[in-house]
Amino acid sequence: MANLKEAEPAPMYDFYSKFYIATKNSLAFSKYCNQVFQKDLTQDGFSDILQLQRMIDITRMNATFDVLDIGCGNGKMAEYISDLTGAHLYGIDYIPEAIEQAQVRTKQKINRLTFQEKFIDELSFLENSFEVIYSVDTMYFSKDYKETIDQFLRILKPKGQIAIFYMEMSFDPSENKSKLLPDKTALAIALEKCDLKYDYYDFTQDNYRLSQLKRRAAKSLEMDFKNEGNQFIYDRLIIESLDENTNYDEYKLTCSRFLYHIKL
Ligand SMILES: C[S@@+](CC[C@H](N)C(=O)[O-])C[C@H]1O[C@@H](n2cnc3c(N)ncnc32)[C@H](O)[C@@H]1O
Repeated sequence: MANLKEAEPAPMYDFYSKFYIATKNSLAFSKYCNQVFQKDLTQDGFSDILQLQRMIDITRMNATFDVLDIGCGNGKMAEYISDLTGAHLYGIDYIPEAIEQAQVRTKQKINRLTFQEKFIDELSFLENSFEVIYSVDTMYFSKDYKETIDQFLRILKPKGQIAIFYMEMSFDPSENKSKLLPDKTALAIALEKCDLKYDYYDFTQDNYRLSQLKRRAAKSLEMDFKNEGNQFIYDRLIIESLDENTNYDEYKLTCSRFLYHIKL
């Protein structure tokens, strides 16, 4: 049975393989990212330039830092952060195509950008490697949050920091909604189990705005996606975005978003 379990495909592996091949040359997706996030970093999460800036500010990233991006995709976000701060950014992702694109695109910046194919559950880095580990909308793919955070702690330097953009969702009306609170999310519970104190920044309202913007931008580019043969991206954007008519009070009963910041 153990072997059978190991043979299970990693969640969304096929989708992300297709996604990073398609977005490499998709003008529609590039336009979409520029409209929603102010910059095309091939975002598949919910963090725009302002959210990233907040993370850079609170962690005080600078050119002396070694920083690890968990779930870096094609590395454009890590490259952007390294260009801004001078920090050495390392990125890991489980999609070989995405890592290859990152390596090829940034080969002139190899002194401060390193990309490796790795799973979030197998962070085979040496102890004391990083000042900051961050993750934007990728913790959900960890098989066990506590184990993943324990791995972060092993590879962080003393006084290292963790920054995680994380969303909690609850669509079942009969479900207890307390899990949407910042200290009750599955991630907060795992941080507590690891005896970690954290600050959090609430981006729920911002997420509401971005989710509606995503829907508007996707709809305005529907034909562009279709004509490129990238209907599957359009379909996903529609599923994960929000109708104009949903009001904020309804929305916040289904979803919350926080940036968790841990300082050792
Ligand atoms: C929701 S996307 C977020 C990407 C990027 N951080 C952003 O904010 O746009 C999740 C990313 O995690 C990667 N990923 C998913 N499961 C993973 C796993 N088990 N190990 C490593 N990377 C994974 C995907 O390939 C994808 O790049």
